[in-house]
Amino acid sequence: TDLAHIRNFSIVAHIDHGKSTLADRLIQLTGTVAERDMKDQLLDAMDIERERGITIKANTVRIEYPAKDGETYILNLIDTPGHVDFAYEVSRSMQAVEGSLLVVDASQGVEAQTLANVYQAIDADHEIVPVLNKIDLPAADVDRVKEQIEDVIGIDASEAVHISAKTGLGIPDVLEAIVTRLPAPKGDRDAPLKAMLVDSWYDPYLGVVVMIRVIDGVIRKGDMIRMMQTGARYGIDKLSVLRPAMQDIKELGPGEIGVFTASIKQVRDTKVGDTITHEKKGTDTPLPGFKPSQPVVFCGLFPVDTNDFEDLRDAIEKLALNDASFTYEMETSAALGFGFRCGFLGLLHLEVIRDRIEREYDIDLITTAPSVIYHVYMKDGSKLDLHNPADMPDATLVSHIEEPRIKATILVPDEYLGDVLKLCQDRRGIQEDLTYAGARAMVVYDLPLNEVVFDFYDRLKSVTKGYASFDYQLMGYREDKLVKMQVLVNDEPVDALSMMVHRDRAEMRGRAMCEKLKELIPRHMFKIPIQAAIGGKVIARETLSALRKDVTAKCYGGDVTRKKKLLEKQKAGKKRMRQFGKVEIPQEAFINALKMD
Ligand code: GTP
Repeated sequence: TDLAHIRNFSIVAHIDHGKSTLADRLIQLTGTVAERDMKDQLLDAMDIERERGITIKANTVRIEYPAKDGETYILNLIDTPGHVDFAYEVSRSMQAVEGSLLVVDASQGVEAQTLANVYQAIDADHEIVPVLNKIDLPAADVDRVKEQIEDVIGIDASEAVHISAKTGLGIPDVLEAIVTRLPAPKGDRDAPLKAMLVDSWYDPYLGVVVMIRVIDGVIRKGDMIRMMQTGARYGIDKLSVLRPAMQDIKELGPGEIGVFTASIKQVRDTKVGDTITHEKKGTDTPLPGFKPSQPVVFCGLFPVDTNDFEDLRDAIEKLALNDASFTYEMETSAALGFGFRCGFLGLLHLEVIRDRIEREYDIDLITTAPSVIYHVYMKDGSKLDLHNPADMPDATLVSHIEEPRIKATILVPDEYLGDVLKLCQDRRGIQEDLTYAGARAMVVYDLPLNEVVFDFYDRLKSVTKGYASFDYQLMGYREDKLVKMQVLVNDEPVDALSMMVHRDRAEMRGRAMCEKLKELIPRHMFKIPIQAAIGGKVIARETLSALRKDVTAKCYGGDVTRKKKLLEKQKAGKKRMRQFGKVEIPQEAFINALKMD
């Protein structure tokens, strides 16, 4: 296809503003999937996904569109991951296209992820077409939202397209806008091959499937290619476009988007943002700005039942096969036994993986306190990247410690603003900006990442009744007064509860932790001291008094079934407990002790 008849674009939106529904409509209206197959096809895809775990990239699709000017265009829609944790992947996929549809729910207006995503599109020099969705809703307020787009984002919204992705209203206007308002790609067919690796996923039948955008040159089935960052060489087995099912194609030229397979074993061998060229007569100049995505949040995952360790290893290896940004290595803990230290792109990423292990592999997990990477500068001049508070060197040898900071953007209705400011302030935040967009406030805070990793989302949601939206960006490292706080239960250190804290907040955190643990640890036949300490110094202490009575005593004699039930309950509870010295600590205690109110 000649370049003038190609348009490449992505859809940027806040979650739930209608990205998937619009994509479905575009596919449907252009007959990419015949009307009668639409439902079946999508359902089929879901069944397959469920049964065999195949990843279907439903929102990445090549569409043929006969435009009003009488010409037929090829439209390539690239799906971008929606969440902040995958910001780097989003920014790379944005580089692969020339324009974006900015979808905003006309009944809700601009949200934090609208902003984060549209800024990525602006950074990638995109032409942007604003699309106001859900105009069928009575609450839709087109004028107000247009004004908001102009005020907050600073782009012209006067020619925004008004649609209802649900009813199909306005979809033809979206297609015309793509053709007339987005630029055609540029590229040189005769230059050496240069293609960007946009995305990749694991398919149990095909192996690793790699999505590319060709910049220059032509790629064909059977070609020998080289990945410029990893240096790996492969032969192209299968070359296809997604419609959205795979359809084989002979070649892909400049401006085109498609997928290939090449007997690649692991997603890990494909780096998003890498440049692909021919093994012979390839280009010498890779695409600029490549950086691999790096995990920023770490935690330990341990099986509750030590017999599950091999199953956990199996689950983690399988998950890592399809997720190159998830890292893991074996870890042993005095208290928790064998487990894994895992790295994630962010909190949501951590939660997704943890939930999948528990649900899909049926393994009960103990998750240790999430930690960020601290830069520990030693007095002897050396530097240590600390991923695990348990590895913190002796404080007397440390010169100073730096921690990662983020820039957080929060959009919130006025009435909750006070609570949000308090929350950010409590988490050592520094306010950078506060502006208004209609009845909503937009606050920007500089926050330490470690204050955000545990339960910031949860707290934000609860203080704003779910009305706030949140997004963040990593900003770099800054020195602060950080120390390692240890927790001792019955004089035994519980390393899974060790954490790095700010010196000025250590007493408060320590006290809160001890109080929580006192509630969470069941009473034993003896007295149990619970302490928080920095170095050898105890900063907080609680005592759990001894249990005297038999638990079943209160079922005075008679009721046998009740007594039995109680014992069974106790037994079930036991399974989810871990032994620390002489003390049993329930699994929930680890998670709950770390939450702050
Ligand atoms: P994620 O995939 O979760 O990121 O969301 P999304 O942005 O893709 O939104 P999705 O298309 O899943 O739509 C979210 C909800 O809004 C769904 O319940 C849709 O049915 C509904 N929706 C989408 N478009 C419209 C519309 O034009 N009008 C109305 N009333 N509802 C819509």
